[in-house]
Amino acid sequence: MSTLGHETSQHSSQSFKITKIKEHIGAEITGIDLRKTIDLETHQRINDALVEHVVLVIRDQDFEPADFQKAISRFGEIMPDNNSLHLVDGFPLMLILSNRLKDSKGGPAKVEKNSNWHTDHTNHECPPKYTTLYAVELPDKGGITNVVNMRAAYDALSLEWKKRIDPLQTANTLISRANWETGNPDIVKEQKETTRRAVMHPLVRTHPENGKKAIWFHKGKTDTVTDMDPYETQDFLSELLANSLQDDFIYAHEWKLGDLLMIDNRSALHRAGTDYDHSQHRMLYRLMVKGDRPV
Ligand SMILES: [Fe+2]
Repeated sequence: MSTLGHETSQHSSQSFKITKIKEHIGAEITGIDLRKTIDLETHQRINDALVEHVVLVIRDQDFEPADFQKAISRFGEIMPDNNSLHLVDGFPLMLILSNRLKDSKGGPAKVEKNSNWHTDHTNHECPPKYTTLYAVELPDKGGITNVVNMRAAYDALSLEWKKRIDPLQTANTLISRANWETGNPDIVKEQKETTRRAVMHPLVRTHPENGKKAIWFHKGKTDTVTDMDPYETQDFLSELLANSLQDDFIYAHEWKLGDLLMIDNRSALHRAGTDYDHSQHRMLYRLMVKGDRPV
């Protein structure tokens, strides 16, 4: 899809429509059932739309876990989750995101970290290119997932900011030392005990498919940025977000049952909304598609 508001596929086994949501981010796809076999051309059009629009909302899916996994595996290799506590029975690659999860001590699992802007699994050498979420149970309202186009955010920065951040590297762990006191105790414990070294990534990465630069980091996992200590790092990343995010670059997804959300992590940050009635259950399934090493 190029600059058209929407278009209908004439060439695939299913006739579906791609409709742009905002100028800088988001497209909705209707009229496709991903439980059915999709041809290569259709798959490529969905992939291209995702790269162009950063986030896709594919409506009206009716997935059992096996259907979800089969559909997403067409986009690449599904990678295991850092979190091995909350997986779907029989599907060891599929994570449950729910407000009713407990940590290993039986307390409510902390979800605050996900209410901050981040991209997933930066502690891996090859983090996921796509994060995909499928709504299983939803509160009556709220629980929005926000996605921001960090390619647009980078483009809008001043030349001084671009020059400042272009050469910087992030050192990625399970959780930054600056967050050890406030973070999920299970994750802090795992980080303290690990012998794995921090994984280095560029703060500004270049998209392997379209060659465009984007600001890219997970604040909670970034232990240090080049020449900064952990606390300076957190302040710097907050300042960078404050200087780069604009409402026009953000898509706020209000979930409906049957929605499949696909995020191109190479151009995006996202965050989970916590603005809903927590006596109601919000549960999504997540699968992530492995990406390249960021450059
Ligand atoms: Fe996430």
